[in-house]
Amino acid sequence: MPRPNVVFACNACGGETLKWQGQCPHCGEWNSLEQRAAARPSKPPVPRAPAAASRLDSPAAGSDARVPSGQDELDRVLGGGIVPGSVALLGGDPGIGKSTLLLQVAAHVAASRPVLYASGEESVAQVALRARRLGLDAGELGVVTENDLDAVTQLAAERRAALLVIDSIQTVQTGTVASSAGAVTQLRECTAALVRFAKQSGTAVFIVGHVTKEGTIAGPRMLEHLVDTVLYFESDAGSRFRIVRATKNRFGAVNELGFFAMTEGGLKEVRNPSAIFLARAPEPAAGSIVMVTREGGRPLLIELQGLVDRMRFGAPRRIAQGLDANRVAMLLAVLHRHGGLSLQEHDVFVNVVGGIEIGETGCDLPVVLALASSLKDRALPTSLITFGEVGLTGEVRPVAYGDERLREAQKQGFSRAIVPKDNVPRRPLDGVAVIGVSRIDEALGAAFGG
Ligand code: TYD
Ligand code: MG
Repeated sequence: MPRPNVVFACNACGGETLKWQGQCPHCGEWNSLEQRAAARPSKPPVPRAPAAASRLDSPAAGSDARVPSGQDELDRVLGGGIVPGSVALLGGDPGIGKSTLLLQVAAHVAASRPVLYASGEESVAQVALRARRLGLDAGELGVVTENDLDAVTQLAAERRAALLVIDSIQTVQTGTVASSAGAVTQLRECTAALVRFAKQSGTAVFIVGHVTKEGTIAGPRMLEHLVDTVLYFESDAGSRFRIVRATKNRFGAVNELGFFAMTEGGLKEVRNPSAIFLARAPEPAAGSIVMVTREGGRPLLIELQGLVDRMRFGAPRRIAQGLDANRVAMLLAVLHRHGGLSLQEHDVFVNVVGGIEIGETGCDLPVVLALASSLKDRALPTSLITFGEVGLTGEVRPVAYGDERLREAQKQGFSRAIVPKDNVPRRPLDGVAVIGVSRIDEALGAAFGG
């Protein structure tokens, strides 16, 4: 049977049909089919010798020494630097700093190796202006404003680029697909072409992908399975701090975090992230406590605030910012049953300062102590830190990495700690009085006396 020259691909699911239809037979989406060139039939197979297998300990197999990006925080998240031939997708809201970060990285790498920065959103003059504002020495950096991906990869191949930046995937198109730039089939085809290019040439590729509120699904999310590494750039609204998170990484640990601050001179690494979240008032305040949590593979000191206020009318409000509200409701019940503190008649608010989302149980004990402190209107000493999980029977359970958390608190100058008994280190910590507790009434006693 002759093969058709065109097929119709759905821009929602990518499924193909031979005839145009109003509704995609694969996913049921309406008006989503677009015409595109059918894949050329492959040539009849020519018998060939099997590809030679490589020994994993041969020099060729281990020769992909990582390239430092010039940003230790980014290298951390990548698992130790940029891997030649790898493809990383950097997603994030428009304006968060993706182009700024990658321009800084591109300029750094360009000092020692050929680099191509393909910008489909800004002119060469705009990129040059930004580089100058950032104080980058970008003399060696090749910049091209081109929307044709095939031309970009050809240029990168000619220059034998060690690094290629595509800013952004939404602005490039490849001739093998008929739809316009930004359409789902284009996004997918362009990403696949970049992956092929990277693997063949050994060029590391960074792809920028805008994530918009509405477009999260149809945007870069569907490209995640094609690439080696997926990074997300996040920030709290209005804050100048930025977090780069790896949600997928073939070459390192996932959920590593890199901390940056957006400044006049571009993105600067934050080497002591605990310090950001601890910019607290020097005076002790009721309802405030410092907890040691773990985010992105390292301990982090964060201020937690609780506020309880006598309810005026209706049902009591329970609002948790940065924490699971159900967990807070459970802790309120435990505090009532096993701590003798009733908050049934109170509105309760809990807030993690700095806009971090806490997904671990080590913040249970801090929540309990912050709420008790607000209810009693008694401030806890600013030299105190805490962490620990609380169970339904009022028991305080140990959490992972207790020693590491205590050492971080010691490093930041805290001198008292209320922690689960099983997390008390065997050898005393210099300058930190560690109080181990096994039940929440003990913890309340240790914090407020009696
Ligand atoms: P940008 O990198 O263009 O964001 P994206 O590529 O993710 O859309 O960042 C743009 C924002 O960063 C813009 O609001 C200005 C700000 N910015 C600074 O604060 N300092 C700087 O040195 C630069 C270059 C940008
Ligand atoms: Mg940009």
